[in-house]
Amino acid sequence: MMLTSRIVGTGSYVPEQVITNDDLAKIVDTNDEWIASRTGIRARRIAADPEMGTTYMSAEAARRALADAGVSAEEIDIIIVGTSTADRCFPSAACDVQAAIGAKNAVAYDIAAACSGFLFALNTAQAFIQAGIYKTALIIGTDTLSKITDWTDRGTCILFGDASGAAVVKAEEQGLIKMMMKSDGTRGEVLSCIARTGGNFSNGKIPEYGYTYMNGQEVFMFAVKTVPKCIRQVLADAQTDMEDVKYFILHQANSRISESVAKRLHQPLEKFPMNIDRYGNTSAATIPLLLDEINRAGKLNRGDKIVISGFGGGLTWGAALVEW
Ligand code: ACO
Repeated sequence: MMLTSRIVGTGSYVPEQVITNDDLAKIVDTNDEWIASRTGIRARRIAADPEMGTTYMSAEAARRALADAGVSAEEIDIIIVGTSTADRCFPSAACDVQAAIGAKNAVAYDIAAACSGFLFALNTAQAFIQAGIYKTALIIGTDTLSKITDWTDRGTCILFGDASGAAVVKAEEQGLIKMMMKSDGTRGEVLSCIARTGGNFSNGKIPEYGYTYMNGQEVFMFAVKTVPKCIRQVLADAQTDMEDVKYFILHQANSRISESVAKRLHQPLEKFPMNIDRYGNTSAATIPLLLDEINRAGKLNRGDKIVISGFGGGLTWGAALVEW
């Protein structure tokens, strides 16, 4: 029998510093009512200490996921980290996490799929597990967006926060049922961040760093059109009814996106858990952070079916139907 990926443990980490909408109203022309009504966000966490950025948060989330799974770091065959904000260009965040947790038998590398990073990491682990190449994977979604945010731009700085989430997946008979991933590089401009501008000794230019740019309305339209479509596709491929899904764990970009997806799928909003009010949009971390919250609250039982759906820069998007 072909084995699949079962999520056997989850963990997450958020920085201690809480930044409320009122705090942001002191640095840009905005207010709590505008932010909360348009996005659902009331607060976010920010990694104030640069030493406690992407690697630190990811390693903490990973340790918690391993403890939850009862799996040792040595047992991990592969570490896949979805992130756009590794602490260094190289080594990868995954290699830094490997060193931090002592996963000495693993291969480790990052995936760049912006807010879809955790889903793409899960689906990539699934490909290795289904092929019989690896048995135990540590997958992480993590971002320190605060360092690529323009804190003078009220259109974007109100949205983002820092966090990490992790899951341990093992080759078992039940688990991930169906998955899909897509990307459209021709629409990359609507959500982008330049890494470093070109500059070197020959052109005399000093490289500069960019900040996150977003065309909010384009992203909104992309999400509400694409997410219901890919969820329907995964469920149709798995011959599973929408009604049999307990939770739809969506990337937390904006509560209005989740509400619109629920409406388009004709599903009650109670099936769409959210924590964006407390953490904002933490990019690749939103899905594992939410999954960990639900798991630790005891809301998932063996055999429950959940849909995970990510979407973001690239553009990238996708979904997975998972049996808990
Ligand atoms: N506070 C107060 N006013 C603001 C703020 C702010 N923080 N930001 C913008 N405004 C103003 C604008 O200047 C504009 O004023 P004007 O009419 O005088 O010109 C007005 O509010 C409306 O601006 P819009 O940009 O049209 O605001 P919109 O209603 O589209 O809301 C938002 C912006 C919330 C970003 C919306 O476009 C949205 O939800 N987009 C989805 C994108 C998203 O969620 N991105 C998350 C990151 S991407 C991802 O994770 C995939």
